[in-house]
Amino acid sequence: MVSTFESKVNAKAGVVTRNIFYDKEIYQQELEQVFGRSWLVVGHESQIAKPNDFVANYMGEDPVLVTRDSKGKLHTFLNMCRHRGNRICRADAGNAPSFMCTYHGWTFATDGKLVGVPGYKEAYFEELDRAQWGLVEARTDSYKGLIFANWDHEAPVLVDYLGDAAWYMDLWLDRTAGGTEILAGMHRWVMNFNWKFGSDNFGGDNYHTLVTHGSMSASGMSAPRRPLQLEKTNFIIAAGNGHCVLGGYSGEEKRLQQGFNEPAVAKYLNDISGELTQRLGKIRGKQANMGIGTLFPNFTWHSSPTIRLWHPRGPWSTEVWSYCMVDKNAPEIVKQAMKNSYIQRFGPAGNMEQDDANNWMDSTRSAKSLTARKYPLNMTMGVGHEWTNETHPGQSLGYSWSESNWRHFYGWWAKMMDAPSWKQLPLDKRSNITP
Ligand code: FES
Ligand SMILES: [Fe+2]
Repeated sequence: MVSTFESKVNAKAGVVTRNIFYDKEIYQQELEQVFGRSWLVVGHESQIAKPNDFVANYMGEDPVLVTRDSKGKLHTFLNMCRHRGNRICRADAGNAPSFMCTYHGWTFATDGKLVGVPGYKEAYFEELDRAQWGLVEARTDSYKGLIFANWDHEAPVLVDYLGDAAWYMDLWLDRTAGGTEILAGMHRWVMNFNWKFGSDNFGGDNYHTLVTHGSMSASGMSAPRRPLQLEKTNFIIAAGNGHCVLGGYSGEEKRLQQGFNEPAVAKYLNDISGELTQRLGKIRGKQANMGIGTLFPNFTWHSSPTIRLWHPRGPWSTEVWSYCMVDKNAPEIVKQAMKNSYIQRFGPAGNMEQDDANNWMDSTRSAKSLTARKYPLNMTMGVGHEWTNETHPGQSLGYSWSESNWRHFYGWWAKMMDAPSWKQLPLDKRSNITP
């Protein structure tokens, strides 16, 4: 019998081999087949608003530069000089009409063209075909301000890849006409856990909040936790193609977003509720909360409000990039309150962040144990108790206390690891639901 990841991971049953959080060869295959073929978030349009703006990021372990060229078109390039391979830019962000490699001086424009070669006449006899030696470019597209890139030219177009997840992303990307922006500054840090533990936590783990973050509600720093009981009105969504929506879809009126100590936030959320309903319909109009979720493979959003990337750094290490994202046209006092809320809860000094990271490091540590690897992880909570409904798009809905999203995430992960190309990787069928 051929051993496939689908059989090894056994995501349907929720009994998952621990090796996928440990093995170096599996990790290399992930870089190639997951990160090399998925649409990855590489930035937000507000970061590169003007012509010749650029921002650095990573696709897996590949450093990239995301640019807006002099004509306003978005690009994503491997941050690598085509001569000997040095980085052409060492800054995190800025504005420049061109990038000069500091080794021998080859110079590239923001549209990727090789525009300057020292000694082109004297040393290369004008024989170097500069058109062939421009920057290596990934496919680039954006969805309502969020910029994505993909190395694989066979991959489906971005909007199809997002599938049903887009419906949920609209709740934060498209709730007002002004759209969103990333506030200046960000947090970056490296921690010793496998990247999947971060991604899957925000995509599928309500269960941990009761215990892991228990001290926050006990100390009054967050709202009291809901008791552990089955509520069909509060559910999680496997949104297809590995994407997972975790929170915020209670179906109840919830104008006041928890965690903000500034009354101006409540007022603002009330103020925009009419526009939100008009733009997105009644179901989503009930929510003044961006929810929580993970877009496969490594992008997470959270109502704190933050967006973040889990950049893989080997099987046992992850570099977290974390930003505060707000409505662009929100009043300054609201933006500041949201930033304070984000910093209090997330980022390296955030109290929820520290609760979480300890657990992910420990899960990774146990995957290093030879004996522990003989025993699978248990992701069985709620197997067979998923459903769909007429109002919320997605492959399946699960109770808030369910690991159904994990089974979806790892099921898709296994498919990507097994499929030789996108031709053998059909996207999940999109739901036929309108707002
Ligand atoms: S390595 Fe960039 S110019 Fe030589
Ligand atoms: Fe958490």
